Amino acid sequence: MPDVVRVSRTLPWREAAKESDSLRPSLVYQFRHEDFRGKLVLDVGTGEGRLAFVAASAGARVVGVDLDRTKLMHARAYAGIRNIPHVEFVLGDVDKTPYHEFARDPIDAVISNLCMSPEIVWHSSRALRPGGTFIFCCHHGDHWKETRRGSQWAFYEDAMTDLLEENRFEVSFMGVDTTVALFDQLREVELFLRDSVVRKWVEDGRWEELSDSFAQGENHLTLSYLVVKARKLAAAYRAE
Ligand SMILES: C[S@@+](CC[C@H](N)C(=O)[O-])C[C@H]1O[C@@H](n2cnc3c(N)ncnc32)[C@H](O)[C@@H]1O
Repeated sequence: MPDVVRVSRTLPWREAAKESDSLRPSLVYQFRHEDFRGKLVLDVGTGEGRLAFVAASAGARVVGVDLDRTKLMHARAYAGIRNIPHVEFVLGDVDKTPYHEFARDPIDAVISNLCMSPEIVWHSSRALRPGGTFIFCCHHGDHWKETRRGSQWAFYEDAMTDLLEENRFEVSFMGVDTTVALFDQLREVELFLRDSVVRKWVEDGRWEELSDSFAQGENHLTLSYLVVKARKLAAAYRAE
């Protein structure tokens, strides 16, 4: 397994906010160095399709899957407005549905941004052709660590490596991209985060944990992402 590439920075929250919704640079870098021309790519948890559009612009035929009908509607509208060919958006649950139901031809690559689970790794492994590529960005275990519970769908390097190897992937790149946003007061965190996130944290106790952390003078919030590129190995599975 290659060395983990770590990038970290500490920024005043207003600076951190400018890039908090952007695709991680190391994910974009992996995309730039992948030859997507003519490949069939599945974007799991595509949302409004921004990663699907990057792959389509690089020459891929892309199927984006999500279970949110409104986001899919927006994705289709953007594809139409921008006249992006070879991209379609399909309603589906990427944790539960075998991926051959989303695409009839063999899948060359599975991609994902901020939608990851052991089930997605499992399904991707079954769907990808040998040598196929799996590129994704998900929350790292340190994401939102000041709230104690952090993110539900976060993975540390070792756990993700084990999960990928168990599912017959070979990791070719693993990066951890961390930003620590600095605040003067807790109320600035409300401006930094989406309203829906703040509401959820108030409901589930994470806001109280963050408030305690600020009361102890720890006026920061960690945003951390794991970026991975892996190849599907050729060996066959034993019957399950
Ligand atoms: C944080 S958003 C990321 C969207 C998009 N990949 C992007 O980068 O803009 C996560 C997306 O995953 C979708 N999602 C979550 N669980 C899913 C599932 N089991 N099946 C399909 N989509 C799912 C959500 O509806 C949401 O659109």
